[in-house]
Amino acid sequence: MKIGTPKETFTGENRVAMTPNSARALQKLGHDCVIESGAGKGARFSDEDYKDAGVTVVKTAAALWKAADIVAKVRPLGTLTEENRLKKGQTVISFFYPAQNPEQLERMKEAGANYIAMDMVPRISRAQKMDALSSMANIAGYRAVIEASNNFGRFFTGQITAAGKVPPAKVLIVGAGVAGLASIGAATSLGARVYAFDVRPEVAEQIESMGAEFVYLDFAEEAQDGAATGGYAAVSSPEFRDAQLAKFRELAPEMDIVITTALIPGRDAPKLWLEDMVKAMKPGSVVIDLAAERGGNCDLTVPDEKIETDNGVTIVGYTDFPSRMAAQSSELYSTNIRHMMTDLTPEKDGIVVHDMEDDVIRGATVAFEGEVTFPPPPPKIKAIAAQKPKPPEKTPEEIAAEEAAAARSAGRRQIAILVLGALFMWLVGSYAPASFMRHFIVFVLAIFIGFQVIWGVAHALHTPLMAVTNAISGIIIVGALLQIGEGGWLVASLAAVSVLVATINIVGGFMVTRRMLQMFQKS
Ligand code: NAI
Repeated sequence: MKIGTPKETFTGENRVAMTPNSARALQKLGHDCVIESGAGKGARFSDEDYKDAGVTVVKTAAALWKAADIVAKVRPLGTLTEENRLKKGQTVISFFYPAQNPEQLERMKEAGANYIAMDMVPRISRAQKMDALSSMANIAGYRAVIEASNNFGRFFTGQITAAGKVPPAKVLIVGAGVAGLASIGAATSLGARVYAFDVRPEVAEQIESMGAEFVYLDFAEEAQDGAATGGYAAVSSPEFRDAQLAKFRELAPEMDIVITTALIPGRDAPKLWLEDMVKAMKPGSVVIDLAAERGGNCDLTVPDEKIETDNGVTIVGYTDFPSRMAAQSSELYSTNIRHMMTDLTPEKDGIVVHDMEDDVIRGATVAFEGEVTFPPPPPKIKAIAAQKPKPPEKTPEEIAAEEAAAARSAGRRQIAILVLGALFMWLVGSYAPASFMRHFIVFVLAIFIGFQVIWGVAHALHTPLMAVTNAISGIIIVGALLQIGEGGWLVASLAAVSVLVATINIVGGFMVTRRMLQMFQKS
């Protein structure tokens, strides 16, 4: 099949749905790639880059739409231009927002197009590689911090210099979903003191593990169960909202930067940073409203604009953060599309199988063969498994009794193993020569001690433990080398095999250790 990408028609959109890298991967699936001349310019990919990657570059959008069986884009189709070019049976992949876009969805049905909406990919583990909402939110969260620092006249990190002491900037993140967590990561790495709040209590641990402080409310409400809403938030009760706003009012005078990302699917963004909170902020403070596209979390946000209030607070309401990092976001978005194409091309033979039984493909398809297929049936797998009900708390007496019973049963098991082992040794000793028994007893004891030592090590430490067993492998190699020259061919071959296996263990151990250390290194 031919996959084509036109230049985005939305004003100011710099992203592109196909990059030279993704085109190479698409060709490996058996597809041909076509691109409109200049489509990658905003993301710094030239026509030459595409040609080098084996992509055919066509001059006009009309030629592109005519040539392509599948059109991959970033934004929904432009109403007048692109919709008219659509052919019956053509497949389009892009963001679509079907719930907010019902008229266009109807027109897609009339045109007989098959439409895959990247924003409708179900949020299940298997589909994470196609989750374009998350990859774009991640970039938006990062960019929000960069934008904030650009508008903030001070350091993020605290410093003690000869000229004086600089306190660290205080950053509040409201809403710790994908974008919020990315903002926390970026702000803490710049050295700011970061506070974060979310209505879903399960994110408190994630917030704290990233070095930020979770803002707790003094409020007892039935915790929101993320699993019931597919990992998303639901609307809070008025009492909860009041408690939340009271907390924000208390924090407002202290915060230098506020980044709001709070969204509830299918609704306007909740207003959480109200006018009086902006008024209470210090001059020079910055509010970045990532929810601006859906009306904004801040009362004073003007979508797509940066304003300064009378008390000197900058409020940024841009809605194109991913497009402001077009090279990065195009690379990630085109990878999401490429993974979608991998699922649509199961045999990697360039033939698309639009399998409506597949949870992910079905969930993302909003129009198919002349029918509207939105909303999809609920996925068979939940985005987040529901939390198992906790067993009732045990009293200290019950815990002590259980521990004693477990110790007794472990003791009995060990005695049984020892008796069986002794019987086995007696049986072998009755027939085997004395010289064999000496070595055999050492061998059995080594296995026993080794097992006991390793069994006691926490599972999380098994990999470093394996790396450390290099010492044992070293002893094996020395022993085997001594044996290679002795005895017949059998001993020599067994010794050679031992050297080989122990060497693999040593090299593997070093490689594992190196990889683990790299995980903690900042390159
Ligand atoms: P989102 O963009 O819809 O919302 C952003 C955040 O705002 C959410 O964390 C939400 O709880 C929070 N929020 C809503 N109302 C609020 C209020 N009144 N005050 C404070 N915070 C409020 O959500 P996003 O970032 O797209 O994803 C949310 C969650 O979905 C993730 O944290 C994750 O648990 C889940 N997810 C699962 C994936 C998977 O593949 N399993 C992939 C991506 C996300």
